[in-house]
Amino acid sequence: MKTADKTSFRELVEESKTIASGEGTRDEKLKRICSLLEENVEIFDWVGFYLVDPDSDRELILGPYVGEETDHTRIPFGKGICGQAANSLETFVVQDVSQEDNYLACSVDVQAEIVIPVMKDDSFVAELDIDSHTKNSISQDHRAMLEEICDIVSQLF
Ligand code: SME
Repeated sequence: MKTADKTSFRELVEESKTIASGEGTRDEKLKRICSLLEENVEIFDWVGFYLVDPDSDRELILGPYVGEETDHTRIPFGKGICGQAANSLETFVVQDVSQEDNYLACSVDVQAEIVIPVMKDDSFVAELDIDSHTKNSISQDHRAMLEEICDIVSQLF
């Protein structure tokens, strides 16, 4: 059952800590965290990480994700919601993607999106990208939980 109350958000943060400090490679752990979020939060329909590509100039590369396959496997900084978050290094919440000009559509079903940068000390290393099929669905509690999880994830880089 998918739940979405504050208690379960706390549990998801704790479970993310357990995953991050557990066995496996970085990408296996990132994938487990994607599954955890996708399976437990009703409005999360696509959950994935984009990684800063160390071999390119200001470009993101698709990392572990759960959900439909996407054409956007590489995203230059500045392009789409992900690329804009890479420039601002701030969480970017879009409650209605149809209102955004600079947006890269993954699926026609997506209505809302949140992107959270992952900072390792002062360096930008990755971001967590979540799509929802429900407009206006991303709450302050989602945001706070995901920012906490991105802090935890930063230790993996
Ligand atoms: N919608 C994103 C592209 C990535 S997909 O959502 C997986 C964007 O505008 O950057």
